[in-house]
Amino acid sequence: MTCEMNSTRLPADISLNEGPIDPPTPMNPFASTDRRGFTKTTLLAGAALASGSLSLPGAETPAKRIRTGLIGCGSVSNQYLPQLTQSPFVEVVSLCDIKPERARRQAERFHVAHHYPDIQAMLAGEPFDFLVDTTDMQEHEKINRRALEAGKHVWSEKPIANTLAAGQELLRVANRNKLRLWGAPITVQSPQFAFMARQLAAGKLGRVAAAHANYGHEGPDWSAFFYEKGGGSLPDLAVYNITSLSGLLGPVKNVMAMLSIVTPERTVGDKGRIQVTEEDNAMVLLDHGNGVLSHVQSGFNYFNPNGHEGRNETRHTISIVGSSGFMGMVGYDWEPLGVDLATKDSPRLERHVTNPEGYVWQQGANLAAECLATGKELLVTPEHALHVLEIITAARESSAAGKRIALTSTFRWPVV
Ligand SMILES: NC(=O)c1ccc[n+]([C@@H]2O[C@H](COP(=O)([O-])OP(=O)(O)OC[C@H]3O[C@@H](n4cnc5c(N)ncnc54)[C@H](O)[C@@H]3O)[C@@H](O)[C@H]2O)c1
Repeated sequence: MTCEMNSTRLPADISLNEGPIDPPTPMNPFASTDRRGFTKTTLLAGAALASGSLSLPGAETPAKRIRTGLIGCGSVSNQYLPQLTQSPFVEVVSLCDIKPERARRQAERFHVAHHYPDIQAMLAGEPFDFLVDTTDMQEHEKINRRALEAGKHVWSEKPIANTLAAGQELLRVANRNKLRLWGAPITVQSPQFAFMARQLAAGKLGRVAAAHANYGHEGPDWSAFFYEKGGGSLPDLAVYNITSLSGLLGPVKNVMAMLSIVTPERTVGDKGRIQVTEEDNAMVLLDHGNGVLSHVQSGFNYFNPNGHEGRNETRHTISIVGSSGFMGMVGYDWEPLGVDLATKDSPRLERHVTNPEGYVWQQGANLAAECLATGKELLVTPEHALHVLEIITAARESSAAGKRIALTSTFRWPVV
């Protein structure tokens, strides 16, 4: 899931048993209501509003708009800003980029009144409540911290931070200041994810044994950070599959991995010829407990005849098998096209959930803003994002040391 500047190329449940329900709080008055029901309504309403086909009930009372600033006006801002500027719950008041020309250009294009050359000027400038962080992967941790310390809610592109400890500290700062922190990706919000989780919960696959997920392409060619320390194919690409598999099969107990660099030098738009110093090829084994094992394969050296186009990808990129059933997600988990299912009772592979029901991968920050405006919760949680971050850092540790790494973090599961 990657796209170049000004390009439109895409980057690329239901309970086993009812988990604890969050109690309603002033910040989250709807917490005890079904989160997927809310999400589905929201996604459909958002899509219909964007297309002009829906007015909200009580439309005479305009929705509360969350004053929003976006930092990082590169490639992915071309995906976020069209969403944010269409949302009835968002008012984009400022943009920021250390390449000020980029912030100026996006401010003009998306009619945003204020733009700034750094986070300090942004925080001191036009007031806002919610920061959307789409900067380089290595920058998120410090920018998210600055924003939280300045009293802003944060939606961060992945990863939220570079280590589990730093991410947990950010969450502590957020909780202390009664602020919200969320991180991409939002694969658990798709109706295809929901369908797969429902089949698992209903026992349709029998005794679940194994799963495989894969995602790769030839690698971004515009920015060096993807290949530098703190970048790599794990937090850029495998993060989607790891989120989906842990979301479907449960928190991971142990990780083993082998990582490598296949292409040690690359040419990228911002720095020319560079050395690749973070993995561009990854094989990660996940132990979900109770004997369930899964495997994620990802990298920046994968030829794909469809390039970055999610909607043209029709392979199964996630497959799960058990003693009496098989399930394959059609297309990528960030833009799934359906789910194929075969069971002992119904052994012909049949396709389900071909309707996205309004889900698009670029919508995470919109959903977060809606949550801030109305209290409607997301299925995406910071605890899950931090667990995925721990898996990524554990995979690196495992590969370097040649050993299995036990994890310490967890998240609320099942994701419903
Ligand atoms: N490009 C995509 O299609 C895509 C898709 C999904 C997720 N992402 C994620 O989005 C993030 C950004 O990726 P991108 O492809 O847009 O990269 P990019 O290089 O195109 O854009 C990043 C921008 O952030 C700016 N920036 C860096 N440090 C900054 C700082 N301290 N303050 C202000 N601005 C700063 C850079 O100048 C640049 O304009 C990454 O986490 C990436 O994994 C990208």
